[in-house]
Parts: sequence; structure tokens; C-alpha cells
Amino acid sequence: MKTVLWATLTANGNYAQSGPENPPKKEALDDFFTQVKATGNFIVGRRTFEGMRGNGGPGPFADIDIVVVSKSATEIPGVTVVSSPEEALKYLEQKGHQTALISGGADIHNSFLGQDLVDEVIFNVAPVMEGRGLNLLIDKENYLYKHVQLLDCKPLGSGVVQLRYALDRAVS
Ligand SMILES: NC(=O)c1ccc[n+]([C@@H]2O[C@H](COP(=O)([O-])OP(=O)(O)OC[C@H]3O[C@@H](n4cnc5c(N)ncnc54)[C@H](OP(=O)(O)O)[C@@H]3O)[C@@H](O)[C@H]2O)c1
Repeated sequence: MKTVLWATLTANGNYAQSGPENPPKKEALDDFFTQVKATGNFIVGRRTFEGMRGNGGPGPFADIDIVVVSKSATEIPGVTVVSSPEEALKYLEQKGHQTALISGGADIHNSFLGQDLVDEVIFNVAPVMEGRGLNLLIDKENYLYKHVQLLDCKPLGSGVVQLRYALDRAVS
């Protein structure tokens, strides 16, 4: 199964964090909905999911397979809870999905990158810079690098630029 990691970066290269004073750009959110509609699923970390859940209703994701990755939670109504990235992919594969969308947050993205489980990344670069922040890393301990292939680059509006890269996986 193909895996696509979707993330917003800041203009100075951080993994973007959002909050009341720095809400996500509408263009980036619209793009997220487009990607989710195309894959029919998304994988999300427990902390990001709790931030998204709001009042607990299904919202725009009523027909979407949502997979929450958590070591501590076992059951969350309306979604599937799994205990590892591999289990998330196995679940979606068994459900017949062709592509899995990995939607964040930082821990989850770094877990998938660190385990070489990503085929493609979609980075929406937002016109904002941050101070101390979060990073996406292919290895948290060692200096490593990985060449990636640019697939596409396009403006989404309001200063947001989308970059798509293909990654080679050792094992797919
Ligand atoms: N830039 C973007 O595109 C983007 C997207 C989403 C979120 N964000 C930002 O990211 C931040 C939230 O990210 P976060 O790193 O704090 O949290 P997160 O990745 O959303 O969730 C972390 C939780 O996921 C579970 N988890 C992570 N790795 C795991 C693994 N390998 N196996 C099993 N469970 C695992 C753990 O849950 P348990 O504690 O339950 O075990 C962990 O506490 C916020 O600042 C948010 O604004 C940015």
C-alpha cells in the first residue's frame, strides 16, 4: 500500500504548529480535505486527534476511515485505535485502501519517517515563520540524509506553496 505523509511546514522550515493565534491557512485545510477525500482515510496521533475532535461529532469525516495511533488509548468512539504505525497500515490494507494518508502530528510523522514507512510527502509551506519549534526527522539520533524526488510544486493561494516529493523505501 502506498503511504503519503501530509504536513504543513513554516516558511523557515519548521513543522508548523497551530493554535488560536496561528490558525491553519484555509488553503492548507482545504487541501487536507481534498487529500482525505481521495484516500478515504487518515492516520493520526492521539494528541492531534484530541485537538481535532472538537465537540466529538463526525464533522466532515463521516465516511472516512480514521485510524488513531496510541499506546495508551484502547477505544475511542467512531474511530479505530491501533498501537503502532505498522498496525495502522495493516488495518487500512485489510480494509482495501490503496493509499494511506498520514496526517500528523510530529510524533506520528517522525515515527513513520523513522521506520521508513513513507512513499511520498506532501508539504504545504505556509507564509509564517516560527521561533523554537518542531522538526520532521528521518532519524532522531543520527545524522542521515535521503535524496528525494520532486514530483510537483504549485501555489495553493494566500502564499501557501505545495511541494510533493517521492521517497525510495528500502522495503515496501
Ligand atoms: N504541521 C502539520 O501538518 C501538523 C499536523 C498535525 C499536528 N500538528 C502539530 O503537531 C503537534 C502535535 O503533535 P504531537 O507530536 O504532540 O502529537 P501526535 O503525533 O499527534 O500524537 C502523539 C501521540 O501519538 C501516539 N504515538 C506516537 N508515536 C507512536 C508510536 N510509534 N506508536 C504508538 N503510539 C504512538 C502516542 O499516544 P499515547 O500518548 O496515547 O500513547 C503519542 O503521545 C501540535 O503542535 C499540532 O499543532 C502539525
